[in-house]
Amino acid sequence: MGGSELIGKEEGNALVEVIERGGVFFRYGFDEKRHGVYKVAEFEKEFAQYMGAKYALATCSGSAAVRVALAALGIGQRDEVITQAFTFVATVEAIIESGATPVIAEVDKSLNLDPEDFRARITNRTKAVIPVHMLGVPARMDEIMKITRDHSIAVLEDSCQACGSGYKGEKTGTIGAIGCYSFDYVKTITTGEGGMVVTNDEDLYKRASYFHDHGHEHRTDVPRGKDSHTYTGFNYRMNELQGALGIVQLGRLDYVLSQQRKNKKQIKDGILARGDIEFRDLPDEEGDGGDTLIFFLENNEKSGELEKALTEKGIGTKILPSALDWHYAGRWHHMKERITPDGETLVKTGELLDRAIAIPISVKMSQEEIQKIIDAIVS
Ligand SMILES: Cc1ncc(COP(=O)(O)O)c(C=O)c1O
Repeated sequence: MGGSELIGKEEGNALVEVIERGGVFFRYGFDEKRHGVYKVAEFEKEFAQYMGAKYALATCSGSAAVRVALAALGIGQRDEVITQAFTFVATVEAIIESGATPVIAEVDKSLNLDPEDFRARITNRTKAVIPVHMLGVPARMDEIMKITRDHSIAVLEDSCQACGSGYKGEKTGTIGAIGCYSFDYVKTITTGEGGMVVTNDEDLYKRASYFHDHGHEHRTDVPRGKDSHTYTGFNYRMNELQGALGIVQLGRLDYVLSQQRKNKKQIKDGILARGDIEFRDLPDEEGDGGDTLIFFLENNEKSGELEKALTEKGIGTKILPSALDWHYAGRWHHMKERITPDGETLVKTGELLDRAIAIPISVKMSQEEIQKIIDAIVS
C-alpha cells in the first residue's frame, strides 16, 4: 500500500496548519489571508528537487496529470498515441480525452512496453508514446528512447505506479520529455487523490500549467481576474490540503521504498525453492520500487490453482489476477471502438498476464506475514 500505511500525526498537523494559518484551500491568490502558506507550490518545488527535474506541476489526480501532459505536448485530433496493453485504463482514457487515438502495443516479460512491438505500430500519425512503469518496475527506457529519437516521437512516461523508482540512475518520469505520477490512496505516496507532472522543458511546463488552470498564465503583476490567456484549458488543479499532505508523504518516500525493497527481496529469495516459477524481467533491478513481486507459472491452470490456494489462506494478489479487467486492453469491451487494434488481438500480453501472479508488498510486513506468504507459495 505504501504511504497510506504511514498516515499519522504529521499528516494531521500539516492539515491543521493550513486551517489555522488562514484556511486558504485554493493554491493561487488570497495572499493577505494565507500568511505565507503555499503548500502546493512548496510540494511542487520539493518534488522536482527529489526527482531531479527542473519543473513540477501538481494536479488533482494522476489521470489529470496524464491528460495535462498530453495537452502540453500539443496532442489532439488526428494524432495517434501508442501505449501498452497492460496498464490501468486511465492511461488510455487520457488519450481519448485529448481527442487522439490510442494505439495499443504488447508488453514483454517485463510486463512493460515491448520496444519492438512499439516500433512496429508507429505510423506517420504517431505523435507520442506512453511507456508505463507498471507496479514499480521501470520500462526498457534505453530501447524506447532510441526508437523515439529515430522517429521524432515525444515520450510521456506514466510513472503513476512507480513514484521514486529509477532506471540506470535516473528517476522514472524524468527520462522522457514529460512524466506523470499519481498520489491516489493506493500509490507509493498519497494525498488521497492527486498527481504530478514533471519536465525539464520550460515550454512544456508553461503549457501544462496554463492548461491545468483554464488557460491562466499566472501573471504576478495583475490580479487573477485580469490574468492573461492564450490557450484554452480546464480545471485539473491540486488544492492546499493535498499539497500539505504531499509534503509530509514525500518525506516518507525513501523509507517506503527501502522497506518495500527489503520485504520483496525476502519473499523473492524465499520462494526460489519452488522450482516452477519464472520471475518478471526487471530492466533495472536496483530501480525497482518493490511495489509487488510478480512471477509466471507454466499456464493459466497452474496460476489459477495457486491463486485459489492463496485466497484460501487469506493472501490476496494485486491486479494479477484480482483486477485484470481494469488493467488489460483485451478486456476493455466498453471502449472497443475507441482503441486500435481490437484489444483481443493483443494475445502475447494476454498469454503473459494469464499465467502471472502479483503479490502485493507492504511497508509494514511482519516476519510472520512474510513467512506465511513464502510457505503458501512454496508448499
Ligand atoms: C498506470 C496508471 N496511470 C494513471 C493512473 C491514474 O491515477 P489516479 O488514480 O490518480 O487518477 C493510475 C492509477 O491507478 C495508474 O495506475
